[in-house]
Amino acid sequence: MAREFSSVGVIGLGTMGAGIAEVLARSGLDVIAVEVDDAGLARGRGHLEHSTERAVARGKLDADGRAALLGRIRGTTSLADLAGVDLVIEAIPESLDLKAEVFAELDRITGPDTILASNTSSLSVTEIGVHTSRPGKVVGLHFFNPAPVLKLIEVVRTVVTEPDVVGDVVALAEKLGKTPVVIGDRAGFIANALLFGYLNHAVTMYEQRYATREDLDAAMRFGCGYPMGPLSLLDLIGLDTAYEILDTMYHQSRNRLHAPAPLLKQMITAGLLGRKSGRGFYTYR
Ligand code: CAA
Repeated sequence: MAREFSSVGVIGLGTMGAGIAEVLARSGLDVIAVEVDDAGLARGRGHLEHSTERAVARGKLDADGRAALLGRIRGTTSLADLAGVDLVIEAIPESLDLKAEVFAELDRITGPDTILASNTSSLSVTEIGVHTSRPGKVVGLHFFNPAPVLKLIEVVRTVVTEPDVVGDVVALAEKLGKTPVVIGDRAGFIANALLFGYLNHAVTMYEQRYATREDLDAAMRFGCGYPMGPLSLLDLIGLDTAYEILDTMYHQSRNRLHAPAPLLKQMITAGLLGRKSGRGFYTYR
């Protein structure tokens, strides 16, 4: 029988962490959300309020449900508050050093049966897990942005992840109303490995002035039925995040499809990160 989770820790309340916390709390789980400082907690609270407001406006949640959902998420700046949780989902920036430090600390703080999951999109779950004394209880749980809306969760098992742990998180994903797919630990997993070659190609077409941003996006929306065109989607994902994903996949596979288009780096250096900075391929605000 699959394990019942009652309280879950989420580390990092950026776009992904806040979305994950919302999904868990919507299913009735208590969430302890950890950020580095009060400003981070306030930003995370802002993401949660904005997203749940949208859910109410779209008829997915009523006002009481929204209040109950928000009430189930407790913010803290101390990792030590995760001592009693059954599962932790880490969603901090994509730095192996940072993640290694957090997982080593979680290993000390949490009970030996607590499952430690990472939402990493491109780093190796195996390399993260070896920084704990329980690599068998370390797994990838990769959500998609926006997490409250998109149904996929990639469950990443390493060669040492215990089968019961995989079974437990698959059952949890289903309880959250998501569709899990279970895969091995390879850069990009399934979705990003396929998606980012396409997104990168769109940037190259734009860089070569082959087509305007509007026409590139219109072609994929109206010709292929995609909900968003590639340049709008890159603005949603964040150009810095997209660059990191491409760069990691390129270094692992040397597949030229994943060699980041030079324009991406230039835009990042200029501070054009997409929606989160107010400007990317398009301007927001
Ligand atoms: N909770 C529950 N449902 C919510 C919600 C919330 N907080 N907020 C919105 N929704 C629902 C809405 O009710 C609506 O549902 P219906 O269609 O049933 O009415 C649906 O979500 C869409 O919301 P909106 O109508 O407000 O927005 P939209 O129609 O403009 O769609 C979008 C926006 C969901 C972002 C859509 O354009 C989309 O799916 N784009 C593609 C996103 C994508 O490809 N993401 C993957 C990125 S790659 C990644 O994430 C991996 C990585 O590692 C970086």
